[in-house]
Amino acid sequence: MSHGFVTASYIVAAVLFIMSLGGLSKQESAKAGNWYGVAGMAIALLATIFNPDVTGIGWIIVAMAIGAAIGIRLALKVEMTQMPELIAILHSFVGLAAVLVAFNTYMEHEPLFGAMLNIHNIEIFLGVFIGAVTFTGSIVAFGKLRGSISSQALQLPHRHKFNLLAVVLSALLLIWFVQAEGSTFPLLVMTLIALAFGWHLVASIGGADMPVVISMLNSYSGWAAAAAGFMLSNDLLIVTGALVGSSGAILSYIMCQAMNRSFISVIAGGFGSDVVASNSAEEEGEYTEVNVEDVADILKNSTSVVITPGYGMAVAQAQYPVAELVSKLQAAGIKVRFGIHPVAGRLPGHMNVLLAEAKVSYDIVLEMDEINEDFSDTDTVLVIGANDTVNPSAAEDPTSPIAGMPVLEVWKAQQVVVFKRSMGTGYAGVQNPLFFKDNSVMLFGDAKDSVEQILKAW
Ligand code: TAP
Repeated sequence: MSHGFVTASYIVAAVLFIMSLGGLSKQESAKAGNWYGVAGMAIALLATIFNPDVTGIGWIIVAMAIGAAIGIRLALKVEMTQMPELIAILHSFVGLAAVLVAFNTYMEHEPLFGAMLNIHNIEIFLGVFIGAVTFTGSIVAFGKLRGSISSQALQLPHRHKFNLLAVVLSALLLIWFVQAEGSTFPLLVMTLIALAFGWHLVASIGGADMPVVISMLNSYSGWAAAAAGFMLSNDLLIVTGALVGSSGAILSYIMCQAMNRSFISVIAGGFGSDVVASNSAEEEGEYTEVNVEDVADILKNSTSVVITPGYGMAVAQAQYPVAELVSKLQAAGIKVRFGIHPVAGRLPGHMNVLLAEAKVSYDIVLEMDEINEDFSDTDTVLVIGANDTVNPSAAEDPTSPIAGMPVLEVWKAQQVVVFKRSMGTGYAGVQNPLFFKDNSVMLFGDAKDSVEQILKAW
């Protein structure tokens, strides 16, 4: 394959990636968007492997076969609820790859002098820094999402000073590295600092801000890939990395707006969010328990119903019986809609994907801003496996760790039925006063079982 053909293939692949991002922005075109991405990646891989500068194709094919075998197995095995942790661990691979590429380029490069050598060294330094932060940050995110590390924010004393020190020291080490024409010592010291910095940055961010962290790490992994592209002089990697980096940054910004959080405060490891919640996980009063027959009666006596699903619906895989319940309610002349919080579940659009899977029609699935005003005119709200996203303390208690985060104002409806297994808290670890309100009742049990029982009792 000639160099010209490789360049042409890279341009086609880059255009396909842009079309893919465009397609993924709407549910209707998401499938096509996925295929554009697959086609773009296939072209990019083939053009890279058959680039006349690339040698040792046999090794590449063996590595790809091993990678593909692991990837296919994981893709077939992974549950929807485990997707965010899978994404987090994949980000850590991108970070690690950037660090390895940078060290490889550091050890093996053609003789360079003057400004070219300085640029080369800056590329290496930044590649290692961004890659190392992404690597350990993503591992912590993986642990938090998997539950093997506490989702609570790590609140070390002087933690902001530690972050600032890490950045200042790294900047000084960069100057040393460039002036010493690529001395190994400052590069190694910075690598250790960046690994600790990435770890601490994500560990300091509380559970409720994890959605922003995931999209932020997505953005970092893009910039790490772009840095690797500069080191390898691979234009497509630069373009693709920049696309991922900037779209991740835009998503992080949108997430912050949706949660009423300051972008800077979240990416600086919770800077400025020193609110300490008092007795946040303790129960706060009496609650009323109901059974499935009671809920069936409540529904039969309603004319309008809103369903607000959350992470528990994903865990229980309750979307199929929920879709069946919707059909039953509609057949009985009851108006049913869904209210979706932007961070419900564990990844952006989680609930929309589940409802689409169960063939719920898009036009009854409304965003939080579209439905919030309607709760006061709603007879019954079914809160199915949601907790933080319907917590009134976000709106009413300024000392709450989720204070200021917009929530679905379900408590304004006539009657609220909460489907969950216990009085346990949600991801942010905060107790929910909704459960103790006079117009709320609790239906305990696995969400799927509960909805199936209601269908039987109908
Ligand atoms: P959560 O606040 O996490 O609450 C989920 C609830 O579901 C829990 O209280 C749990 O109570 C219940 N549950 C779990 N398994 C269940 C089952 N099998 N059947 C019935 N109920 C079950 O969920 P949410 O309201 O969707 O809020 C999302 C949270 O995750 C937010 O804090 C958000 O910031 C965070 N987060 C979101 C993302 C993205 S991008 N969306 C990423 C990371 C983190 P029981 O244990 O008592 O059943």
